[in-house]
Amino acid sequence: EAADKGGWSSFMAKEITEQPEAVANTFRGRVVDGRVEIPELSALGEERLREVDRIVIIACGTASYAGQIGAYAIERWARVPVEVQLSHEFRYRDPVLSPSTMVISVSQSGETMDTLMAVKYAKDRGVTTVSVCNTQSATIPRESDAAVYTHAGPEVAVASTKAFTAQITALYLIGLHLGRVRGTLSPEEEAQAASAFEQLPQAVAEAVETHEQIAQLAHWMADTRSVLFLGRHVGYPTALEGALKLKEIAYIHAEGFAAGELKHGPIALIDHGQPVFVLVPSPRRSPVMHSKVVSNIQEIRARGARVIAIVEKGDTAVLPYADDVIRMPLTDPLFEPLVQVVPLQWFALELSTAKGLDVDQPRNLAKSVTVE
Ligand code: G6P
Repeated sequence: EAADKGGWSSFMAKEITEQPEAVANTFRGRVVDGRVEIPELSALGEERLREVDRIVIIACGTASYAGQIGAYAIERWARVPVEVQLSHEFRYRDPVLSPSTMVISVSQSGETMDTLMAVKYAKDRGVTTVSVCNTQSATIPRESDAAVYTHAGPEVAVASTKAFTAQITALYLIGLHLGRVRGTLSPEEEAQAASAFEQLPQAVAEAVETHEQIAQLAHWMADTRSVLFLGRHVGYPTALEGALKLKEIAYIHAEGFAAGELKHGPIALIDHGQPVFVLVPSPRRSPVMHSKVVSNIQEIRARGARVIAIVEKGDTAVLPYADDVIRMPLTDPLFEPLVQVVPLQWFALELSTAKGLDVDQPRNLAKSVTVE
């Protein structure tokens, strides 16, 4: 079994390091000469894709956060309203659906019962169903009108890592394909996204290199009882995912917040020494959001928070207010979650290890939940 782990102490560690290939294998063959083309979507017919006037993404757990991140990109490029719903909530709310609705399910295993039942529900109502799945010929892609596979390779650890970044990649490709077919994507945007994809594996590889720094941080924080995560825009669902990872494998109370929401309630939680991870957007490419996040950092710091800032390398604005700074490679703003989530994955893994827990097999959880 040690051989299967490729020399790592856990499958999760191995899978974190496999993310550069997981994302590359997912976009390979789908971005050619700066043009995004997903044959499985083309097979649905251009007319059908042009008629879509609303997209509902359904998923559970980590896949739902990939869905939330994907929603920003799909709306940006395809100009279709996108909402994200948990599969088990979607089915029981009597959802408003029409033949021009597209339901995109996201599932690593393709066997999650809640998501499968939601897909069947949508299909029975004549909705176009697209599956983003990591497992060839699983039930959900077989039940769907189109399957866009992520090529992350088998994921063994219960806590999802490489499937998550591959899911974001696949959803971005769907957004670009839809945008091109619908005429809402400018050639400049398509070229910019294609070049972001090209640089992505190297950027993710650099993010993987934060391991040693994060291991030290986790070592000092081994007796932490609660951790908060803050982000804005695509950084918000990334924060939610960082918190989920910590709950899942380190059994630590953790919550993610939209940074702008702080002053509307969560700031009351900030007390002396409270660790807070803050996902800081690029100062060059997102100057307005960057300055807003820096003010959020100042607000929590003034109330005693211990700030761990995840910043673009070269960003010095945060330095005076952060206790720890984790530097990320330069990426297009929409692609930030794909690098920023990596240190959060390492942090959960290292904290779990520091507490002597089983990283790959957390208590009470299953890799794939095949009951409702
Ligand atoms: C379980 C796993 C999670 C996963 C979720 C969705 O709860 O423990 O890690 O995110 O199911 O799984 P899926 O296979 O549908 O992506």
